Amino acid sequence: MKILPSPCLVLGAALCLATATTALAQGNDLSVGRKMLMEDNPGELWIDQGKTLFMQKRGPKNVSLEQCDFGFGPGKLEGAAARLPRYFADTDRVEDLESRLLTCMTTLQGFDRKELIKKAISPAASSGSDMEALALYVTSRSNGMKVNVALNHQKEYDMYKAGEYLFYRRSGQTDFGCVQCHGEADKRIRLQDLVHMTSKQGAQEVASTWPAYRGAHYVVRTMQWRLNDCVWQMRLPDLKYATDYSIALTMFLNRQGNDAVMQAPGFKR
Ligand code: HEC
Repeated sequence: MKILPSPCLVLGAALCLATATTALAQGNDLSVGRKMLMEDNPGELWIDQGKTLFMQKRGPKNVSLEQCDFGFGPGKLEGAAARLPRYFADTDRVEDLESRLLTCMTTLQGFDRKELIKKAISPAASSGSDMEALALYVTSRSNGMKVNVALNHQKEYDMYKAGEYLFYRRSGQTDFGCVQCHGEADKRIRLQDLVHMTSKQGAQEVASTWPAYRGAHYVVRTMQWRLNDCVWQMRLPDLKYATDYSIALTMFLNRQGNDAVMQAPGFKR
């Protein structure tokens, strides 16, 4: 396959990318192009931005997020994201990364929940939202560690079972279920590979690569964005940010993806 034709060397990276994209559009193996781009992932830039936001004293209460507990105790980030979603006693809920960030940004920093949600998903080609940068920073602190979602608490188990049910359930005017697009190997829609999530490998890819840099949008995207986009493809009502529907699906997928090695940000088309 001609992914890197010789003009690349002469004419520089931009043209090279354009040529590679054309080659891909002609029906070659899309995953090769994706791997090529992985080596120079612009999403890395958001990690530092997220770190700055995390350490900064912000919000009406003028405090940083350093006391936020992601499950291993206040401020302990190493490996914490690899264990999410999980049950939190202080809220008596199972929370995913983004709902936990919302919890800390409202309780510790005093931000308004509705305002945070309004801005959580940034417009394409923007500099991204605080939530996107924070989610990536926190996740990056689990890089190199294994996904390890447990079902110890009854509410964790119930959330997992709800996610499993929702994954297979067909609903809406098009009668679509996640499983129809993501339940078989080698499926494509338009030119996009669909991850085969009922396989261990596919679930592991999902569990270990989000938040991810989305090439088509020039920003880092989170799992909440991804699920909302799929719900839209199913012509269901918009997914409300950080609600149980999304947490349940994330719980199901991440648990299936246990033992994958975390490597955020992923790079997606
Ligand atoms: C009509 C087909 C369709 C349905 C139904 C659908 N998706 Fe998707 N899904 C897609 C497409 C298209 C992509 C993006 C592929 C790309 O951009 O390369 C995607 C990507 C994803 C990803 C990211 C995979 C990765 O790259 O890591 C996740 C997670 C996901 N979907 C979950 C779901 C869930 C959960 C449901 C059910 C609520 C669902 N999808 C329903 C088409 C669908």
